Order: sequence, then C-alpha cells, then structure tokens
Amino acid sequence: MRTLGIETSCDDTGVAIYDSEAGLLGHKLFSQIAMHADYGGVVPELASRDHIRKLLPLIKEILRETGTPPNAIDGIAYTTGPGLAGALLVGAAIGRSLAFAWQVPAVGVHHMEGHLLAPMLEPNPPAFPFLALLVSGGHTLLADIGGIGDYRILGESVDDAAGEAFDKAAKLLGLGFPGGPAIARAAEQGKPARFTFPRPMTDRPGLNFSFSGLKTFTLVTAQNHTLDAQTVSDIAYAFQDAAVDTLVIKCRRALQQTGHKRLIVAGGVGANRLLRERLSVMAHEQNVTVYYPRPEFCTDNGAMIAYTGHVHLQAGQHDGLMFNARARWGLEELTKH
Ligand code: KG4
Ligand code: ZN
Repeated sequence: MRTLGIETSCDDTGVAIYDSEAGLLGHKLFSQIAMHADYGGVVPELASRDHIRKLLPLIKEILRETGTPPNAIDGIAYTTGPGLAGALLVGAAIGRSLAFAWQVPAVGVHHMEGHLLAPMLEPNPPAFPFLALLVSGGHTLLADIGGIGDYRILGESVDDAAGEAFDKAAKLLGLGFPGGPAIARAAEQGKPARFTFPRPMTDRPGLNFSFSGLKTFTLVTAQNHTLDAQTVSDIAYAFQDAAVDTLVIKCRRALQQTGHKRLIVAGGVGANRLLRERLSVMAHEQNVTVYYPRPEFCTDNGAMIAYTGHVHLQAGQHDGLMFNARARWGLEELTKH
C-alpha cells in the first residue's frame, strides 16, 4: 500500500510517499522561510498563497522521482490541524480532491501526532510505550505515549512554545528568522560565564513549562548592554543554555515519574545540537534510550504525515468527502485504534 502525504500547516510545503513494504520512498520540501524572513515571522495569507503555487508541482515531482504513477497511490494523508487555517485548507482541499479523482481513501492527520511518530521513520524505531518531548514553534509538551492514538499530556507550556521563545529571543537580538538555528549559530561564539539566565519553573514540582520569562530576561539584558557581535553571542549562549537546561530538567523528572526507559524527541527544537548532547548525557545517567528523528524530520515535513496517515488508513480509518481545517485541535482528542 502506498500513501501520499501532504503537509501545509504553516510555512513548509511537504510531500512524501510511504510504502507498507519498502518504507519511505521519498519526500520533498519547499520552505517558505526566505519569503517570510522580511517580515520577521510567518504571514498567514502569504503562506496559503505559496502552498497553492507549490503543492501540485511538488506532488508531480515526488510521483515521478519515486516511480509512482497516480494509479499506484492507495491513499492520501493531509494535515488537518492544528496550524494556520488557510494554509491547512490548501493541503486538505488538494489532498481530498486528488483522492476523489483517483478514487482512493483520504485521511486528515493531526500535525503533532505526525511529529510524535516521526522517529518511526528511522532505523531501529522505538517500541511503545515511551515518553515524548515535543518541542516545536507552536507547541511544547511532554506526553505519555501508550500506542497509536493513546496520548496523555503530562505537561505543557503555559505561555510561549520553546521554538517561539527561540524565535522571539533571536528577533530581540537582531538575529533573523527562524530564531532557533540563528541562536544556536550565534551561541557558538558566546562566552559561557558572562550571563546567567533563570531556569523557569524548575524549582517547583510539576511538568509544565514557561518560556516567556526567558524572553523578558533576554529583552532586559539586551536593553542594558551595547549589542556588539560578542555581546549578542554571549546573550544567545545564555538563552540557549537556560532553555535547553529547562527542557532537560523536565524530561529527567518525567522519566523518573513515569518509569519510562525510552524517550523520543520531536519537533523543530529537537534539531538543536546542545539539546541533543545534554539529553544524551541525562538519558545515559538514567539508563534511558533516546530516539530522534533525523534533523530534517524534526522540523515540518511530508514524511511524518505520510507515515501517520498510512498507519490510520491501514487500520481502516478514513474521512468522508467533507474536509475541514482544525486550527486548534488537542492531541488528547485522538482515539486509540
Ligand atoms: O516543528 P517545526 O518545524 O514547526 C512547528 O510545527 O512549529 O518547528 C519550528 C521551530 C521554530 O521555532 C524554529 O526556530 C525551531 O523550531 N528550531 C530550532 C532549531 N531548528 C528549528 N530551535 C532551536 N535549535 C534549532 N537548531
Ligand atoms: Zn510542526
């Protein structure tokens, strides 16, 4: 069975084809980052228009490159939410229409479920159950994953998502968009001892996160100093150090509370090298195995949607001719197979 996956929830147009026997046959991504960079963030209307321009040509390319004629596609998966409503509607409308034309089933996929299952695309994927840290531009959460559709949120951000905090801190420092990779790059030249930022909400029990204080700390520090290149790097270092430490402390706590011996890390911030290094050290101490998607599958992509849709279609789940965009959609609303 071959599933075409379509991702258009934000500023990446992603497509992929997943085959039940051969696994992932191929994927393609068009990133809109250059277009949004001038505005310092994603402009929803521009995002939707660009998905319209790029999606069909990308689908044609992935079919050609994987040697898949349209009549070899057995199902279509598209992201239905959460995300930008207009952007989601592009993927849903095209996915649903192609499924109608090709007379195959179509299924709407939860974007965060896609991120959570992305490690399944790698060699030696984790077995259920496991603990998941999902750290993206829109969400930061720790979840207990019992199996497909069995997701229990243990903690989440009470304000900004981790990626959002990186993006805002980078903007304050004039480092450009997206902020995560920009902060990480600047931090490489940073002096460790110059600034120390707080580790929010780590001094009290619980698994929730808060990142808005780190943003304010960055703002105040930036306002009180001349922002020469070294100072920007030093602040970037202190910010990344504190954000990463906070995530690692909460992961350790969640592992101790749940007793899980497997941890998966997903979402764009999961591509951060310092986070990976420190999580590996912590996991080793706790006798836990950490699983990561390859960096290009940490950020948004069509492969995770093709895989997740494939799992649902194989279980007999599919949607009717009506399609929808669910800009807000809780992970715990999903149900077990
Ligand atoms: O998962 P994703 O592609 O999109 C959402 O679903 O939100 O995550 C994008 C986020 C952005 O905030 C970006 O700054 C952050 O992931 N990010 C990083 C890194 N690469 C991307 N944050 C920290 N370090 C990185 N290397
Ligand atoms: Zn995402």
